[in-house]
Amino acid sequence: MDLGLAGQVVVITGGANGIGRATARAFAREGAKVVIADISDGADANVPAAAQEIVEDGGEAIFVRTDVTSMSDVERLRDEALEVFGRLDVLVNNAAKLPTSMTAPFFWDEDPEEWDGLIDVGLKGTLNCSKVLGDHLRQHGGGSIVNLSSDSARRGEQRETTYSAVKAAIIGFTQSAAIGLGPAQVRVNCVSPGRTITERHDRYREDAMAQGGEAAATFEDREKRALKLYPLRKFGRPDEVAKVIVGIASPVMSGHVTGQIISVNGGYHVG
Ligand SMILES: NC(=O)c1ccc[n+]([C@@H]2O[C@H](COP(=O)([O-])OP(=O)(O)OC[C@H]3O[C@@H](n4cnc5c(N)ncnc54)[C@H](O)[C@@H]3O)[C@@H](O)[C@H]2O)c1
Repeated sequence: MDLGLAGQVVVITGGANGIGRATARAFAREGAKVVIADISDGADANVPAAAQEIVEDGGEAIFVRTDVTSMSDVERLRDEALEVFGRLDVLVNNAAKLPTSMTAPFFWDEDPEEWDGLIDVGLKGTLNCSKVLGDHLRQHGGGSIVNLSSDSARRGEQRETTYSAVKAAIIGFTQSAAIGLGPAQVRVNCVSPGRTITERHDRYREDAMAQGGEAAATFEDREKRALKLYPLRKFGRPDEVAKVIVGIASPVMSGHVTGQIISVNGGYHVG
């Protein structure tokens, strides 16, 4: 099925790793031109940079080093994307700071200094990019914005209180922005993943296992208990979230869908 994304220009914040990287690849497979906006290019000793990986596979992609908390970076991102590809069609607000591990502290033990990072990247970054790139979409015939929330905002997660608050704000923003931007044919939706196993999760697991003893046992026990909340009895994969993001951005699949929150969570809410 042709999703109508070939030739469209898609900006993905935080697109160098995890769900964002899988999303960048999924859009490129549909023939979209991809702009990866991230503080890192996603390269390490074993893995090429995210944009390079797409180009090596025959797709079109560029990397624009962007800190989404900086309005001037975001304006430069818009300008570079337009200079290289000449148009903008889709914005995926994916960049976020996530709680540092499954052993993150309870709210009363959180360091207030860490709140700024969670709020600035997750919420203010989404606002910055939506204002600058959304305004361009609004003035140039429309497009689509997909925000990333989290099911920890919808169901609650005792060790992710501040993060959940940020992700709940993303839901409020999505609904309000959908109303404001709808008349200009800009659709605004939100994809809300449950736990999704990225390289970051793999690193947490490896760290806990390397510590051994109580740290490893606690990690395993929490994972086992969490899994029981998922009727499908599995956590998600980045490509499973990516496919839904692409489907929601697609003017063919979702041309009459706006202001919606779509969970990709193995049934976490109903479990
Ligand atoms: N993985 C999960 O279990 C899960 C669950 C629910 C929701 N989510 C949401 O999905 C999205 C992606 O999560 P992930 O697990 O792939 O994260 P990740 O940590 O693997 O990737 C996040 C990316 O954001 C980038 N980033 C961080 N700060 C930035 C900044 N200031 N400017 C630009 N880029 C920045 C990082 O460099 C990284 O490439 C996030 O919005 C997250 O809240 C993830």
